[in-house]
Amino acid sequence: YKRVTTKSLVEMKRNNRKIAMLTAYDYTMAKIIDNAGIDVILVGDSASNVMAGHETTLPITLDQMIYHASSVIRAVERCLVVVDLPFGSYQGNSRNALESAIRIMKESGAHSIKIEGGKEISESITRILSAGIPVMGHLGLTPQSIYKFGTYSVRAKEDEEAEKLKEDAKLLEELGCFALVLEKVPAKLAKEVAESISIPVIGIGAGGGVDGQVLVTHDMLGMNHEFSPRFLRRYLDLYSEMDGALKNYINDVKSGDFPNDEEQY
Ligand code: KIV
Ligand code: NA
Repeated sequence: YKRVTTKSLVEMKRNNRKIAMLTAYDYTMAKIIDNAGIDVILVGDSASNVMAGHETTLPITLDQMIYHASSVIRAVERCLVVVDLPFGSYQGNSRNALESAIRIMKESGAHSIKIEGGKEISESITRILSAGIPVMGHLGLTPQSIYKFGTYSVRAKEDEEAEKLKEDAKLLEELGCFALVLEKVPAKLAKEVAESISIPVIGIGAGGGVDGQVLVTHDMLGMNHEFSPRFLRRYLDLYSEMDGALKNYINDVKSGDFPNDEEQY
């Protein structure tokens, strides 16, 4: 098999082949996902919620992202690995942004980074790209700005925000980003953006008119029952599956059924 590169993703868009991306934060999960044939693994700062139990993505640190990323990198043989720059590691300071991106690349062995925002962070993006580090953009609902938005609901429903989003998408392409994530925006707008630029647009809650899709693996496997946005398709009810197995184990231990004669030395 051939490794997926930033170039092959752009090629996939050109050939009308959809890109499949999922999150992973650890070795075991990354190995399963990579072996299944995914194109891209995102070491998302959603680890802040999913792994650490924080309410937002803001608390996760650069060191913690590097820990997750290096665990994922040790598992991956084929897919492209993208790592989120966490909140506070790049905003408003392009030198800081470059240092953060370099730390991720150097200390984890990741292949690229993702960064939230458009025009406001263009200097940081340019500087990271100039160091030879591939950058994926992220527009629409950018969770690191949740306290600015005040809500996790759909973005860019009004013309003004939609216009800015279209300009930002163009700008990210011009700066040299290899792809961008569009999160929770109207499907019609997302399709328009995807058709207006040559780099792949990977959607989450952005409809089917884009070049690929990303979901949080723990959500699509049904490992929680609380989070049910409309865009989420659950491929498994892993929470219930695990709950059943765990209860069986507990019962077997309590009843003395486990271990049996064969399960001991
Ligand atoms: O952190 C994350 O998981 C993400 C995806 C939802 C795009 O940024
Ligand atoms: Na993220």
